[in-house]
Amino acid sequence: MARASDTRPVAFFDSGVGGLPYLEVAKRLMPGERYVYLCDSAGFPYGQKDRQAVRDLVLSAVGMLVKKTTPKALVVACNTATQIALAELRAAHPELPIVGTVPAVKPAALSSRSRVIGVVATARAVADPYLSDLAARFAPDCTVIRRGEPELVDFVEKRYMDSNRAQRLDAIRPAVLALAQANADAIVLACTHFLFLANEFAELAGPGIRIVDSRDGVASQLRRVLAAGPGIRKGRSHGHDEFWYTGSDADGTRFAPFAARFGLTLAGCIAR
Ligand code: DGL
Repeated sequence: MARASDTRPVAFFDSGVGGLPYLEVAKRLMPGERYVYLCDSAGFPYGQKDRQAVRDLVLSAVGMLVKKTTPKALVVACNTATQIALAELRAAHPELPIVGTVPAVKPAALSSRSRVIGVVATARAVADPYLSDLAARFAPDCTVIRRGEPELVDFVEKRYMDSNRAQRLDAIRPAVLALAQANADAIVLACTHFLFLANEFAELAGPGIRIVDSRDGVASQLRRVLAAGPGIRKGRSHGHDEFWYTGSDADGTRFAPFAARFGLTLAGCIAR
């Protein structure tokens, strides 16, 4: 069984650039793999669409990604897409190992002393029963305060690259202050886009509030899934990781700095 020589790439998928910090952590853990990334810019933002629309967009975008890049595993690096479409994605691609992104409510609850936890996510995700179930399962004795932050998603997607530290702190201030005032001692970054602002969240929240995310958990799960299935390629990075998007060719200009920052080649637009 020549599993470790399976040279197919590992695919990451999000509505926008939010999945990139997840890819970064996975790449650090498994540098020998080849990675491809798809940003569904034509479908962005998922967080402000209804369930059916998100489901359709996710199934169609992943279908195109799979056709284009024939990956050996897929990470849905988007909480909203995971909550709404993970089961259907698995049904549509039964041969493909798929890892989802689950808000880190469990680790937040484990370490919380005040028993008040903040969850910042998309508007769609905070309204979804998935999050209530997660809270009931892993934080039954905690008050879980959910904040839908559509403007923050937009900030990261469209303005982050040109922003300065003061603007980033301003963007997260309302969420952090409200959660601090409510006595939360953990804030779960439950939209992958917010990982771009993890340092600012930590800075503004201060040492009394833990900022929790699922990057390490997702990367470890990917490693388990690869080890159990197609295998893990050893060695150093191949330097051929690709960034794809679904919008229009014009989006390339906006994504070029993101691709460069994460060491990906801007591969182009996959048409819908
Ligand atoms: N990055 C996505 C998430 O984790 C959603 C952003 C959006 O499209 O609204 O939920």
